[in-house]
Amino acid sequence: MPVVSPSLPGVAAGSPESRPLSELPEWAAFCGAAKASSIDTRKLRLIDAAGIQMDISGQVCSGELAAAARALLDARGFSDMRRRLLDGGIANVTENRAAWHTSLRIPAPIEEIAAERRRLNEFVRLADSERRWRNIVHIGIGGSDWGVRLAVGAFGYAGTWRNVHFVANIDGHAIQGGLAGLDPHDTLIVLASKSFTTAETLQNGRRALEWLQASGVANPYDQVVAITARPEVARAWGIADAHIFKLWDWVGGRFSVWSAVSLTTALAVNVDVVAGMLAGAAAMDAHFQQAPLEENAPIQMALAGIVNRSVLGYGSLNIAPYDFRLFNLVPYIQQLEMESLGKSVNLAGQPVGVPTGPAVWGMPGTDAQHTFFQWLHQGSEGAPVDFIVCQHADHGWPDHHRSLLANCLAQREALLKGKSYDDALAECLAGGMDADEAKWLARHRVHPGGRPSTLIVLPRLSPYTLGALLALYEHKIFVQGVVWGINPFDQWGVEYGKVLAKGITAELAGEAAVDARHDASTAYWVGAFGSNQAS
Ligand code: F6P
Repeated sequence: MPVVSPSLPGVAAGSPESRPLSELPEWAAFCGAAKASSIDTRKLRLIDAAGIQMDISGQVCSGELAAAARALLDARGFSDMRRRLLDGGIANVTENRAAWHTSLRIPAPIEEIAAERRRLNEFVRLADSERRWRNIVHIGIGGSDWGVRLAVGAFGYAGTWRNVHFVANIDGHAIQGGLAGLDPHDTLIVLASKSFTTAETLQNGRRALEWLQASGVANPYDQVVAITARPEVARAWGIADAHIFKLWDWVGGRFSVWSAVSLTTALAVNVDVVAGMLAGAAAMDAHFQQAPLEENAPIQMALAGIVNRSVLGYGSLNIAPYDFRLFNLVPYIQQLEMESLGKSVNLAGQPVGVPTGPAVWGMPGTDAQHTFFQWLHQGSEGAPVDFIVCQHADHGWPDHHRSLLANCLAQREALLKGKSYDDALAECLAGGMDADEAKWLARHRVHPGGRPSTLIVLPRLSPYTLGALLALYEHKIFVQGVVWGINPFDQWGVEYGKVLAKGITAELAGEAAVDARHDASTAYWVGAFGSNQAS
């Protein structure tokens, strides 16, 4: 196999970012230093970034590891790659385009971006002043859904005067439930799709339009808004230009929360939420660009993640937001990380040679403690955990917040410190057990400890701090992509599944012959499902 095509946009043959990681002496040195290092529970390691604090005391560290990390980033051409990203160069090489979501949050963006934002704000101002659209049905999936769900959940959790229903899944029950009980005369349908080809969004959008048409509203298309990078397709649907908001080809789908996709957030809560999130993310961009390596939160978070995944072999990363309002943060980060880093070939098309992006999962604490924390504490594998908590709450019950903070710190401490056999034995004996029983039970009470974690503390949950938090993860993922040598901005695997689903849909509908290349099981079920389509 050739190493790399010199014609690849932005990736010169033999350039540092195109070389397999496992071949680099700097990688060997990094691995060696990481294996020789450990978590130092006596040392506090705190980084301030864009108004949030990141405590990485619970991650493996040493002076040697820090030096090896610097050398590794240099060998990977990290500074140039970061410049390319932030300057709008071709960062997404396999799709030959920029990944310039950061330009959407520059305080004074280019006129095209500023103009679109003004249009959006004006649309919201008008709708608010006329008290229109008591109901919003936001139809979109993946990046066209999670960010808005997250923001509306985070800042509209106490209720807003508009009802917002999110419909993403192609399962007809989703749109059925999304429209149920709504007054069609006071409902706005927001269709968010960068490509305007996504099957889920188009099919659900059709159902919503039919629902408007069937209910006899004067002009159904006046009640539909599209947010897309392909306005011509939305126009062909019948949506008027005044109801089409633009996003750009260089905004990756999973970064579209920074674009006009946030119209629903602005309608559900207000435009200040959107502006605040943009400002917080911009502050994190500046931090990422300027902070020295040792104090750079996204870089340090990325390096810790690489040690955990590629050196220590942890297969997953747990996200534990100790804030009920952040219940959609886990799927948001899950998409961001797994769609970005779920790849195993590098920019040159060669195997990366080391384990890449971990599986990301989680749930807000304290629910998580009663669901899967047992596995984190004493399971054979465990996983690094990102604990996220706000120093101050907004509900006015200090006792609730004290308990939340205490639980967050306690879980983290237990994972870090663990409990030795001797301590467990002493505990059992102190409880009055006889010696044999105590020795037996103590073995069950041992916690291995030494399980890595990061604690991220927001002063309080605000649009600004949430924006900064999301940008922190974005940049962490980017740094990991650079080190692993992969493109974090494409998602070819998802595309393959979409193509297969299209073919099977036609087969189920009897519009195409069943493909003889199906495996036996798929062929059987296509036959079985194809015969009961009426139900
Ligand atoms: O899951 C694949 C994906 O392309 C995501 O990256 C994207 O956010 C989602 O589908 C929806 O795409 P679109 O906004 O084009 O409908």
